[in-house]
Amino acid sequence: MSDSRPPTVLMRKFARFEIVRDWAAMLLKSPTKPREIGREESSILGNLDVNSIAATIETDSCYQGLQLPEDVVQELLEFASSTVCYINRDLKRPWRCKGTEQVGANLPKNSRLCSYMSNSKLSSTLKKLEKDPGILAIAAKFLGAQAVHMGSEISWSFPVAGTHVQQREAAQVFHYDLDDYRFIKFFFYLTDVDISSGPHAYIRGTHKDKKLLHQLIGTRCANIDDEKIVECYGAQNVVNVCGKAGFGFVENPLCFHKGTQPTEKPRLMLQIEYAINDYGNIHEAWGS
Ligand SMILES: [Fe+2]
Repeated sequence: MSDSRPPTVLMRKFARFEIVRDWAAMLLKSPTKPREIGREESSILGNLDVNSIAATIETDSCYQGLQLPEDVVQELLEFASSTVCYINRDLKRPWRCKGTEQVGANLPKNSRLCSYMSNSKLSSTLKKLEKDPGILAIAAKFLGAQAVHMGSEISWSFPVAGTHVQQREAAQVFHYDLDDYRFIKFFFYLTDVDISSGPHAYIRGTHKDKKLLHQLIGTRCANIDDEKIVECYGAQNVVNVCGKAGFGFVENPLCFHKGTQPTEKPRLMLQIEYAINDYGNIHEAWGS
Protein backbone atom coordinates (compact mmCIF):
# COMPACT_ATOMS: atom_id res chain seq x y z
CA MET A 1 0.00 0.00 0.00
CA SER A 2 1.51 3.37 -0.95
CA ASP A 3 1.72 6.16 1.62
CA SER A 4 1.26 9.64 0.17
CA ARG A 5 2.28 11.33 3.41
CA PRO A 6 5.35 13.60 3.14
CA PRO A 7 8.57 12.18 4.68
CA THR A 8 9.35 13.45 8.19
CA VAL A 9 13.14 13.23 7.74
CA LEU A 10 13.21 15.67 4.82
CA MET A 11 10.93 18.11 6.60
CA ARG A 12 13.15 18.02 9.71
CA LYS A 13 16.20 18.74 7.56
CA PHE A 14 14.68 21.71 5.76
CA ALA A 15 12.25 23.18 8.29
CA ARG A 16 15.19 24.29 10.47
CA PHE A 17 15.81 27.19 8.12
CA GLU A 18 13.43 30.08 8.40
CA ILE A 19 13.59 31.03 4.75
CA VAL A 20 12.94 27.45 3.56
CA ARG A 21 10.17 27.06 6.11
CA ASP A 22 8.35 30.14 4.90
CA TRP A 23 8.54 28.99 1.27
CA ALA A 24 7.48 25.44 2.07
CA ALA A 25 4.59 26.61 4.24
CA MET A 26 3.36 28.74 1.34
CA LEU A 27 3.70 25.96 -1.24
CA LEU A 28 2.41 23.05 0.83
CA LYS A 29 -0.56 24.56 2.57
CA SER A 30 -4.03 23.72 1.38
CA PRO A 31 -5.54 26.12 -1.16
CA THR A 32 -8.91 25.97 0.58
CA LYS A 33 -10.04 28.86 2.74
CA PRO A 34 -9.11 28.35 6.41
CA ARG A 35 -11.89 27.34 8.73
CA GLU A 36 -13.77 30.09 10.55
CA ILE A 37 -16.21 29.84 13.46
CA GLY A 38 -19.64 29.33 11.87
CA ARG A 39 -22.60 31.43 12.99
CA GLU A 40 -24.31 28.40 14.50
CA GLU A 41 -21.19 27.16 16.26
CA SER A 42 -19.92 28.01 19.71
CA SER A 43 -16.55 27.27 21.24
CA ILE A 44 -16.04 25.54 24.58
CA LEU A 45 -13.62 28.41 25.21
CA GLY A 46 -16.32 31.08 24.84
CA ASN A 47 -15.91 34.17 22.68
CA LEU A 48 -12.56 34.33 20.95
CA ASP A 49 -10.96 37.08 18.92
CA VAL A 50 -9.30 34.70 16.49
CA ASN A 51 -7.52 37.39 14.44
CA SER A 52 -6.02 39.07 17.46
CA ILE A 53 -4.91 35.74 19.01
CA ALA A 54 -3.18 34.70 15.77
CA ALA A 55 -1.55 38.14 15.49
CA THR A 56 -0.22 37.89 19.06
CA ILE A 57 1.33 34.48 18.37
CA GLU A 58 2.91 35.92 15.22
CA THR A 59 4.70 38.64 17.18
CA ASP A 60 5.18 37.18 20.69
CA SER A 61 5.38 33.40 19.91
CA CYS A 62 2.52 32.71 22.32
CA TYR A 63 -0.94 33.92 23.31
CA GLN A 64 -1.97 33.50 26.95
CA GLY A 65 -5.58 33.83 28.02
CA LEU A 66 -7.61 30.79 26.96
CA GLN A 67 -9.86 29.31 29.62
CA LEU A 68 -11.52 25.91 29.93
CA PRO A 69 -14.84 25.92 31.81
CA GLU A 70 -14.81 24.38 35.30
CA ASP A 71 -16.92 21.35 34.28
CA VAL A 72 -14.53 20.52 31.42
CA VAL A 73 -11.55 20.66 33.81
CA GLN A 74 -13.42 18.35 36.22
CA GLU A 75 -14.18 15.86 33.43
CA LEU A 76 -10.52 15.76 32.44
CA LEU A 77 -9.39 15.37 36.06
CA GLU A 78 -11.83 12.47 36.55
CA PHE A 79 -10.49 10.92 33.37
CA ALA A 80 -6.92 11.34 34.65
CA SER A 81 -7.66 9.67 37.97
CA SER A 82 -9.52 6.72 36.43
CA THR A 83 -7.20 5.91 33.51
CA VAL A 84 -3.84 4.19 33.34
CA CYS A 85 -0.88 6.39 32.42
CA TYR A 86 2.72 5.37 31.70
CA ILE A 87 5.79 6.39 33.68
CA ASN A 88 8.34 8.20 31.51
CA ARG A 89 6.15 7.22 28.49
CA ASP A 90 7.27 3.59 28.96
CA LEU A 91 4.45 1.17 28.08
CA LYS A 92 6.07 -1.40 30.39
CA ARG A 93 5.51 0.94 33.36
CA PRO A 94 1.73 1.48 33.69
CA TRP A 95 0.61 3.55 36.65
CA ARG A 96 -2.67 4.84 37.99
CA CYS A 97 -2.75 8.26 39.59
CA LYS A 98 -5.14 8.75 42.46
CA GLY A 99 -6.50 12.24 42.04
CA THR A 100 -4.28 15.27 42.36
CA GLU A 101 -2.89 14.24 45.75
CA GLN A 102 0.75 14.97 46.55
CA VAL A 103 1.92 12.41 44.05
CA GLY A 104 5.56 12.51 45.14
CA ALA A 105 4.82 10.37 48.20
CA ASN A 106 3.86 7.14 46.42
CA LEU A 107 5.67 7.62 43.18
CA PRO A 108 7.60 4.67 41.73
CA LYS A 109 11.36 5.10 41.34
CA ASN A 110 12.71 7.51 38.70
CA SER A 111 9.29 8.82 37.67
CA ARG A 112 9.82 12.19 36.11
CA LEU A 113 6.67 12.29 34.04
CA CYS A 114 3.67 10.13 33.34
CA SER A 115 1.75 10.23 30.06
CA TYR A 116 -1.67 8.80 29.22
CA MET A 117 -0.28 8.19 25.72
CA SER A 118 -2.89 6.58 23.42
CA ASN A 119 -5.25 6.09 26.39
CA SER A 120 -6.02 9.81 26.07
CA LYS A 121 -8.06 8.86 22.99
CA LEU A 122 -10.57 7.32 25.41
CA SER A 123 -11.52 10.76 26.71
CA SER A 124 -14.69 12.02 25.02
CA THR A 125 -13.97 15.48 26.48
CA LEU A 126 -10.60 15.59 24.76
CA LYS A 127 -12.22 14.43 21.49
CA LYS A 128 -14.63 17.39 21.72
CA LEU A 129 -11.78 19.81 22.37
CA GLU A 130 -9.79 18.51 19.38
CA LYS A 131 -12.77 19.37 17.16
CA ASP A 132 -13.76 22.57 18.94
CA PRO A 133 -14.65 25.26 16.39
CA GLY A 134 -12.78 27.98 18.32
CA ILE A 135 -9.59 25.96 18.65
CA LEU A 136 -9.75 24.90 14.99
CA ALA A 137 -10.38 28.49 13.89
CA ILE A 138 -7.34 29.81 15.79
CA ALA A 139 -5.21 26.98 14.39
CA ALA A 140 -6.44 27.56 10.83
CA LYS A 141 -5.94 31.33 11.05
CA PHE A 142 -2.39 30.88 12.34
CA LEU A 143 -1.52 28.12 9.87
CA GLY A 144 -3.19 29.83 6.93
CA ALA A 145 -4.61 26.42 6.07
CA GLN A 146 -6.99 23.77 7.30
CA ALA A 147 -5.60 22.46 10.58
CA VAL A 148 -4.48 18.82 10.57
CA HIS A 149 -4.62 17.26 14.05
CA MET A 150 -1.15 15.88 14.85
CA GLY A 151 -1.81 14.48 18.30
CA SER A 152 -2.79 15.24 21.87
CA GLU A 153 -1.19 14.36 25.15
CA ILE A 154 -2.29 14.52 28.76
CA SER A 155 0.68 14.14 31.07
CA TRP A 156 1.98 14.62 34.60
CA SER A 157 5.29 16.25 35.45
CA PHE A 158 6.60 15.40 38.90
CA PRO A 159 8.91 17.27 41.27
CA VAL A 160 11.79 14.86 40.78
CA ALA A 161 15.29 16.20 40.16
CA GLY A 162 17.13 14.85 37.15
CA THR A 163 20.33 15.02 35.16
CA HIS A 164 20.59 17.23 32.06
CA VAL A 165 19.96 14.18 29.86
CA GLN A 166 16.84 13.22 31.83
CA GLN A 167 15.60 16.79 31.70
CA ARG A 168 16.22 16.91 27.97
CA GLU A 169 14.22 13.71 27.47
CA ALA A 170 11.36 15.28 29.43
CA ALA A 171 11.53 18.53 27.34
CA GLN A 172 12.60 20.40 30.50
CA VAL A 173 15.43 22.28 28.78
CA PHE A 174 15.07 25.06 26.21
CA HIS A 175 14.53 23.64 22.72
CA TYR A 176 12.33 24.16 19.72
CA ASP A 177 10.23 21.59 17.90
CA LEU A 178 10.32 20.72 14.20
CA ASP A 179 7.02 18.97 13.60
CA ASP A 180 6.18 20.68 10.29
CA TYR A 181 6.92 23.79 8.26
CA ARG A 182 4.10 25.45 10.18
CA PHE A 183 2.39 24.02 13.26
CA ILE A 184 0.80 25.15 16.50
CA LYS A 185 0.24 23.80 20.01
CA PHE A 186 -2.55 24.49 22.51
CA PHE A 187 -1.78 23.92 26.19
CA PHE A 188 -4.21 23.72 29.12
CA TYR A 189 -3.22 23.35 32.75
CA LEU A 190 -5.40 20.84 34.61
CA THR A 191 -3.84 21.59 38.00
CA ASP A 192 -2.90 25.00 39.40
CA VAL A 193 0.55 25.91 38.14
CA ASP A 194 2.79 28.39 39.94
CA ILE A 195 6.53 28.86 39.77
CA SER A 196 7.11 25.72 41.92
CA SER A 197 4.95 23.38 39.86
CA GLY A 198 6.79 23.39 36.55
CA PRO A 199 5.38 26.30 34.55
CA HIS A 200 5.77 26.20 30.80
CA ALA A 201 8.39 28.77 29.79
CA TYR A 202 9.14 30.32 26.41
CA ILE A 203 11.48 32.96 25.03
CA ARG A 204 9.35 35.63 23.40
CA GLY A 205 9.93 36.21 19.69
CA THR A 206 12.38 33.34 19.11
CA HIS A 207 10.16 31.59 16.54
CA LYS A 208 11.97 33.86 14.06
CA ASP A 209 15.39 35.47 13.69
CA LYS A 210 17.23 32.61 15.36
CA LYS A 211 21.00 32.64 15.29
CA LEU A 212 22.30 30.77 12.23
CA LEU A 213 23.95 28.12 14.43
CA HIS A 214 20.63 27.46 16.16
CA GLN A 215 18.93 27.06 12.77
CA LEU A 216 21.71 24.72 11.58
CA ILE A 217 21.62 22.36 14.53
CA GLY A 218 17.82 22.33 14.79
CA THR A 219 16.47 20.12 17.56
CA ARG A 220 20.02 19.55 18.84
CA CYS A 221 19.75 23.02 20.42
CA ALA A 222 18.44 21.01 23.37
CA ASN A 223 22.08 20.06 24.05
CA ILE A 224 22.98 23.68 24.76
CA ASP A 225 22.78 24.89 28.36
CA ASP A 226 19.68 26.96 29.12
CA GLU A 227 21.88 29.78 30.41
CA LYS A 228 23.58 30.11 27.02
CA ILE A 229 20.25 30.18 25.15
CA VAL A 230 18.88 32.81 27.55
CA GLU A 231 22.07 34.86 27.24
CA CYS A 232 21.64 34.79 23.47
CA TYR A 233 18.03 35.94 23.30
CA GLY A 234 17.75 38.02 26.48
CA ALA A 235 16.55 37.15 29.99
CA GLN A 236 13.94 39.90 29.64
CA ASN A 237 12.25 37.79 26.95
CA VAL A 238 11.85 34.67 29.07
CA VAL A 239 8.20 34.21 30.04
CA ASN A 240 7.03 31.74 32.71
CA VAL A 241 3.39 30.83 32.18
CA CYS A 242 1.55 30.39 35.48
CA GLY A 243 -2.18 29.89 35.84
CA LYS A 244 -4.98 28.08 37.65
CA ALA A 245 -6.42 24.77 36.48
CA GLY A 246 -8.21 25.45 33.20
CA PHE A 247 -5.87 28.22 32.09
CA GLY A 248 -4.71 27.82 28.51
CA PHE A 249 -2.27 29.29 26.02
CA VAL A 250 -1.36 28.67 22.42
CA GLU A 251 2.17 28.74 21.06
CA ASN A 252 4.24 28.58 17.91
CA PRO A 253 6.56 25.72 19.04
CA LEU A 254 9.33 26.99 16.79
CA CYS A 255 10.15 29.40 19.60
CA PHE A 256 12.53 28.27 22.34
CA HIS A 257 10.43 26.75 25.11
CA LYS A 258 10.46 24.13 27.86
CA GLY A 259 8.38 22.67 30.64
CA THR A 260 10.26 23.85 33.71
CA GLN A 261 11.05 21.02 36.11
CA PRO A 262 8.59 21.15 39.02
CA THR A 263 10.29 21.72 42.37
CA GLU A 264 7.42 21.21 44.82
CA LYS A 265 4.10 20.25 43.23
CA PRO A 266 3.19 18.04 40.29
CA ARG A 267 1.63 19.49 37.15
CA LEU A 268 -1.05 17.92 34.96
CA MET A 269 -1.27 19.40 31.48
CA LEU A 270 -3.08 18.79 28.21
CA GLN A 271 -1.56 19.68 24.88
CA ILE A 272 -3.15 19.51 21.45
CA GLU A 273 -1.17 20.01 18.24
CA TYR A 274 -2.14 20.89 14.67
CA ALA A 275 -0.06 21.31 11.52
CA ILE A 276 -0.45 21.81 7.78
CA ASN A 277 0.72 18.28 6.86
CA ASP A 278 0.08 14.84 8.26
CA TYR A 279 3.37 13.00 8.86
CA GLY A 280 1.61 10.09 10.52
CA ASN A 281 4.20 9.04 13.07
CA ILE A 282 5.58 12.29 14.41
CA HIS A 283 4.32 11.76 17.95
CA GLU A 284 4.99 8.09 18.56
CA ALA A 285 6.10 9.04 22.07
CA TRP A 286 2.56 10.30 22.76
CA GLY A 287 1.05 7.03 21.57
CA SER A 288 -0.69 8.96 18.78
FE1 LIG B 1 8.68 21.17 22.70
